[in-house]
Amino acid sequence: MAESAAVQLSGADKAQGFCASRVHLAPGDILPAWVFSHLRTDHAGEVGAVCIYQGVLQFARDPKLRAFAEHHLATEQKHLRLISDWLPASQYSRLLPLWRLAGFLTGALPALFGPKAVYATIEAVETFVNQHYEEQILALARQIEFRHLRQTLLDCQADEVTHRDEAAAAFKGFSQSSWMLRAWCAMVGAGSKAAVTLIRHI
Ligand SMILES: [Fe+2]
Ligand SMILES: [Fe+2]
Repeated sequence: MAESAAVQLSGADKAQGFCASRVHLAPGDILPAWVFSHLRTDHAGEVGAVCIYQGVLQFARDPKLRAFAEHHLATEQKHLRLISDWLPASQYSRLLPLWRLAGFLTGALPALFGPKAVYATIEAVETFVNQHYEEQILALARQIEFRHLRQTLLDCQADEVTHRDEAAAAFKGFSQSSWMLRAWCAMVGAGSKAAVTLIRHI
């Protein structure tokens, strides 16, 4: 059966020149505004993720934690390249310096308290990121044009789930978390959610 899909274009999409005549859209193609707004959040999130691990590495001394952060950092840099391929610079969040700072602090602050705080933070962040990618993957599933983009997001999501599970496994080696650490992780999750809402527009 020939693959085809009808994309409902908004006025803004038409004005941007989005064309649905291609069966499978590829990196560099002009995408509808709603897809760009999702990708803007992914791009800013991956910029923040790179900075999280750079923040961890700035202060972490534990060899196991440093190896964990270095490995994850390389994966986040790969994600950033993949998402950047789909998103023109004109579509980047205008608040990127803020997301860089927020990411750095999200990694650096727990690193000052030790590996347990870092693993708990990473588990909280990656739990949020997994859900974030899941929502986009479901939204893109309705239109075959986005098959390649959806696969990119699926690949990134699989890595984020691995990151979450690695952090959870490493955290299990420590005693129960304190109320302060639980409050910090809740704040990280809520902050990530608020940031995504903002980034869709700015
Ligand atoms: Fe990532
Ligand atoms: Fe990750």
